[in-house]
Amino acid sequence: MEILGIDIGGTGIKGALVDIESGQLTSERFRLDTPGGACPEEVAEVVHAVAKHFLWKKKVGITMPVRIRDGIACTAANIDPSWIGTDVEALFSSALELEVTALNDADAAGYAEVHYGAGRGASGKTLVLTLGTGIGSSLFVGHVLVPNLELGHLRMGGTTAEALAANSIRKRDDLSWKKWAKRLQKYLTYIEFLLDPSLIILGGGVSRPKRTRHYFHLLKTNARLLPAQFQNEAGIIGAACAAHTQTV
Ligand code: BGC
Repeated sequence: MEILGIDIGGTGIKGALVDIESGQLTSERFRLDTPGGACPEEVAEVVHAVAKHFLWKKKVGITMPVRIRDGIACTAANIDPSWIGTDVEALFSSALELEVTALNDADAAGYAEVHYGAGRGASGKTLVLTLGTGIGSSLFVGHVLVPNLELGHLRMGGTTAEALAANSIRKRDDLSWKKWAKRLQKYLTYIEFLLDPSLIILGGGVSRPKRTRHYFHLLKTNARLLPAQFQNEAGIIGAACAAHTQTV
């Protein structure tokens, strides 16, 4: 069975067909630019164009960097504030005239890892952290998602965790891997104290092997610590997986 997964990011809106049994993409990815301003109606038009590219007429999973409860966006940290209060599922369902499940981007990345990736087969609590422009977080108890954690916004060192330890901050401030790893370590220790997960998966661009060799050995956690298996495709795969899981 295939589902169309669409990942709305700050710069691009990407879609692909996903085989729900294997988690593999069954089409090429198709990407269009996120419209400047990224307000709901403009984004819906681009999402429509992405679905049209696939001539898609079935279920769709959509993910974006906002907290989504009962289909409605409740936060908008790195995206236009006009999303807050928007019924995201209603907006996209009516733009596409299709059944849509919408969820937070880190929750989607978590679905991808827990069902098909580094967390496959794990029992207990799995925490997935995505280190990118912000810090996304998702917690699973077995395969069950505890949605919308937003642990990137925890207060730390007089600011927020993502303002200190996101990968965008490492790049912006030209931090050495060692210095950045020290910040990340503080964050991980804090999170372990709060949630005591048995597995932590670190995702985002820094989870590629050529990046993890710079800092993974510097991190110490009680939980098993693994790099994510999916990077660019995590949102698409996870959105499709969530659309399937949440409606069966
Ligand atoms: C947002 C989250 C998102 C994360 C990663 C944070 O700033 O608040 O909703 O999951 O960035 O994109």
